[in-house]
Amino acid sequence: MDAALNLQHRLEVAIDACRQAGKITLAHFQNNVAVEDKADGSPVTIADRRAEAAIRETLAAHFPDDAILGEEGGLTTGKSGQWIIDPIDGTKSFICGVPLYAVLLAYEHEGQALIGVMNFPALGEMLWASRGHGCYWNGSRAHVSTTKTLADARLMCSDFGMLAEVAGIDTLQELFKKTKLQRTWGDAYGHALVATGRAEIMIDPKMAVWDNGPLLSILEEAGGRFTTWDGVATIHGSNAIATNGFLHEQVMKILVRAR
Ligand code: IPD
Ligand code: CA
Ligand code: CA
Repeated sequence: MDAALNLQHRLEVAIDACRQAGKITLAHFQNNVAVEDKADGSPVTIADRRAEAAIRETLAAHFPDDAILGEEGGLTTGKSGQWIIDPIDGTKSFICGVPLYAVLLAYEHEGQALIGVMNFPALGEMLWASRGHGCYWNGSRAHVSTTKTLADARLMCSDFGMLAEVAGIDTLQELFKKTKLQRTWGDAYGHALVATGRAEIMIDPKMAVWDNGPLLSILEEAGGRFTTWDGVATIHGSNAIATNGFLHEQVMKILVRAR
């Protein structure tokens, strides 16, 4: 499949597109960028739109037959696989001047998530993975941690308030009591922390395909797991759990109350 799809070339183009888009976001970061509200109430900025437009242009130039789905620009249909763009994941962090935001890009072919790239331009960190070829963090192989007990685990979430609303306060308290450390400002960065062994669990109660896009290939290639709360390994779920693998079933068991 690799040769037919030219996965290595696609990965290189994807990394470059995310690098360029990251530079575009940095021009607006901590720079009084105007914030608009979208129809769903979530914020968006000119940086989101410009970064997505740049990625679309690069992808269309290299792979004119591919479909492109972007959070801000919608779907451009194609004959081949589909690229999925989240130009700024963590827009709430971005507009607060907090550097934990990412440019996300994924490539899916015949229902399989084959490539994932996450660029954290304000942190100088980039992660990427392609199926069967490992996960890389700034060019070196990335691995999840080997922590096997919840008592030693670091739990991440973007918004514990929203998690409490969705999963219930009892579930949240159980997660807090059973884990060693709980931290937020998550979004894609929480998943990146799991993929690089700096945390063990990231939970998000509300996800869209552009939020999930690169996470499945990155987590699995780093030796971890990425699923919905029901345990389905997909980028099309509406919630997500990322773990180092060892703790996945235990976390799912706690979240079962919320389903
Ligand atoms: C958000 C993040 C967050 C998720 C939200 C998304 P955005 O993305 O992915 O983790 O819980 O539902 O909206 O809006 O910053 O790209
Ligand atoms: Ca997002
Ligand atoms: Ca976004």
